[in-house]
Amino acid sequence: MSDTLQTKAQVINQFLPEKLTTKHSAEAFAPSNIALCKYWGKRATELNLPTNSSLSISLGHLGSHTRISHSENGADVVKLNNRTQDEQSSFCRKVIAFINLFRRDQSIPLVIDTRNNIPTAAGLASSASGFAALVLAINDFFELRLTKVQLSAFARMGSGSASRAIYTGFVRWDMGKQEDGMDSVASQLDFQWDDFCIGLIKVSSAKKPVDSRSGMDRTTATSSLYQNWPAQAAADLITLQKAIENRDFSAMGACAEQNAMSMHATMISAWPPLVYWLPESLAVMQRVWQLRESGIAVYFTMDAGPNLKLLFEESSRKLLETEFPQMDIIQPFKSH
Ligand code: PMV
Repeated sequence: MSDTLQTKAQVINQFLPEKLTTKHSAEAFAPSNIALCKYWGKRATELNLPTNSSLSISLGHLGSHTRISHSENGADVVKLNNRTQDEQSSFCRKVIAFINLFRRDQSIPLVIDTRNNIPTAAGLASSASGFAALVLAINDFFELRLTKVQLSAFARMGSGSASRAIYTGFVRWDMGKQEDGMDSVASQLDFQWDDFCIGLIKVSSAKKPVDSRSGMDRTTATSSLYQNWPAQAAADLITLQKAIENRDFSAMGACAEQNAMSMHATMISAWPPLVYWLPESLAVMQRVWQLRESGIAVYFTMDAGPNLKLLFEESSRKLLETEFPQMDIIQPFKSH
């Protein structure tokens, strides 16, 4: 790596006033999202700059609420779902390290209170919505008046997929080319798809043995299949965007499923192999393929874990609810 690469602190610092002002408190919400074209692999690790652009659908009202206020006792307090977190916990350390990028050496003790309303039964990661809600709350609390482009770039530094969680609906994250990453940001696609349904199927709640960050690094370093990935992702992004524009559900679903399977192929061919699937994951995939054979337009996508996200339209909802009674259904474009 060249020594001209900038750190997160250096990039963010350019957009901050010398002395911060603060509000009494600030609160923000960001939705969780599921990638239809996955972000998989980094061209620069410090800033989470990706090797490919990606596209996601946000999960409506499911996500993270974060509130920032002044701490009365002179020390930072980090809460998650109403519970104060141990200061040595990885959650607490990540949140404080992120806040410190903005607070720098100014002594402003804070209470950072995060609540996730993603059903624990859904088996979804909350780092994307968590970092996006945190950066939105920071922007408001310190009265920074950052633009959405800047907020997306800063959320990305917490977790890549958080860059997309600044927006709702269909969101594209462009990989960008600048070294400081300020062009590696998300934007919202101007499309509504009222009938669009996402079914969350949790097959395991066990903590995954390898998180997505390490899985990504291992895959890019050791999988010979990975070299094909950036070109495939670029092609998939175009196909998906066209399918969304044309409301072609089958084209969209087929592309999203193949994109997820291709990402998993790169994981499986990493060394040591990364197989996130469980026998139950494969059983759901096989049932989805059978249903498709019988004429039901249902597809799936999967991330770095064993749980599945089914993609279907409202017309198939009743039937799929009977097939998968354990499924949580989200309609991203319908208000709840
Ligand atoms: O944002 P991260 O570092 O948790 O990585 C997310 C990676 C995937 O979920 C597998 C794909 C994606 O685009 O969300």
